[in-house]
Amino acid sequence: SAEIMESAKNEQYCGEKTVEKGFYYGTFPEGFKFGTATSAYQIEGAWNEDGKTENIWDRLVHQNSAVIADGSNGDIAADSYHKYKDDVKILKELGVEFYRFSLSWTRVLPKGDVSVISTEGIQYYNDLIDELLANGIMPMVTIYHWDLPQSLQDLGGWTNEIMAEYFEDFARVAFSNFGDRVKWWITLNEPWVQSVLGYDFGWDAPRLNLHGVGGYLSGHTMLKAHALAFHLYDKEFRPSQKGKIGITLESFWMEPKTSDPKDLEAAERALQFELGWFAHPIFSKNGDYPPLMKQIIGENSKKEGLKRSRLPSLSSKWIELLKGSSDFFGLNHYTSYLVEADENGQDPSWRRDTRCKTSVNPLWPETGSPWLKVVPWGFRKLLNWIKKEYNNPDVIVTENGVSDKGGLADKQRVAYITEYMNEMLKAIKLDGCNISAYTCWSLLDNFEWLGGYTQKFGIYSVDFDDPERRRTAKESAKAYSTIIKNNGFLK
Ligand code: NOJ
Repeated sequence: SAEIMESAKNEQYCGEKTVEKGFYYGTFPEGFKFGTATSAYQIEGAWNEDGKTENIWDRLVHQNSAVIADGSNGDIAADSYHKYKDDVKILKELGVEFYRFSLSWTRVLPKGDVSVISTEGIQYYNDLIDELLANGIMPMVTIYHWDLPQSLQDLGGWTNEIMAEYFEDFARVAFSNFGDRVKWWITLNEPWVQSVLGYDFGWDAPRLNLHGVGGYLSGHTMLKAHALAFHLYDKEFRPSQKGKIGITLESFWMEPKTSDPKDLEAAERALQFELGWFAHPIFSKNGDYPPLMKQIIGENSKKEGLKRSRLPSLSSKWIELLKGSSDFFGLNHYTSYLVEADENGQDPSWRRDTRCKTSVNPLWPETGSPWLKVVPWGFRKLLNWIKKEYNNPDVIVTENGVSDKGGLADKQRVAYITEYMNEMLKAIKLDGCNISAYTCWSLLDNFEWLGGYTQKFGIYSVDFDDPERRRTAKESAKAYSTIIKNNGFLK
């Protein structure tokens, strides 16, 4: 159709330049780093062992297993709590320089607050970190990857601003126990997903449906939590520990559906409401929420008869604390949307406030996840957008990858990783984007949240029927390993 033709034509443009499509042979800059990632709830299992208490995902899967695609849970998962040495072994075999994993809050702090610090919890992460270092692999630690203590959710979770201080306390425990060896910290993983899917759409844990409100409240607290942890590290720990600390944000690439200026504006709105929401306060020159977001949510709130905006405002104190509060731009990216203007979008929040409608090009290949289509060029466009919008920050790609229905001969994943990494290489070499590391999601097949074990992202498979949870390399593990060995793509 004309629309598909139009979007296919668009696909050849990148930023302001027209560049040739096709494979780019070449190597990554010297010092470029490669790694893989996982998160605690998705791999560890041992959900109630050694004093670990319930978090919001434990609560959801045990109370409402019907919402998980296969009715499963993370009670055992890949059993990394007991098998972390197997994980380090395959990391070593892969040849990655770093491993990104997250801390389970209730494993370290069973009461959520710092009244009890679990010796076993601290021991587990000490063992994992030491095993990594003994094998020459740098730990990159995410402090929070969606598994809030249930005890803190009972206080309102991220909708309660006091969570920022509980998080700061947790971060202090992490820095003081692990910071002598961990030099790469990520405060929060994907605050957009946690706030919107968790507190606004009612999908992810804690599954609250506070439409048009819960997302903004939670996001507001998460921004503050990030700022507190950053400054805590910066002031009290960085002088002796000398590491880096940042945040990980995710974004789809938002491609205008047509060249109609209305759709161009819509795509810009969509980016500002997803990535800009969290990136603008931290990475832009002026700080604060994106002007577009403040304006539109303000207008919509007024239309709804409200005296004040549903988007809370950041005081000048918080604007200052947030500005520049990240040593790098952690980016998770998987896929793209086509975006068109929709002035009367009626969806509870996303469409109502963004005034956008999203769709996909039917030509984009499907994968094991309904939301994830293969659109490699979108990655390059997103990297260019970030370069332009935030003055070419140091980007660390903290996640990129694809799911399939399983199998060791994972041809689609080999193609996906190769093509996405190649687009990233073009962004570096042809467009001058500042990118210093790439992280493949995921090291292992694991518990994919609402997708359970039906969506497999690992470059290693895990046999979930085997009590030993044996890990086996897929073809993609070998392909990734080769790219790392060659530091790029040889002819
Ligand atoms: C982003 C999340 O950080 C991670 O937990 C998830 O498994 C992957 N995307 C794939 O959906």
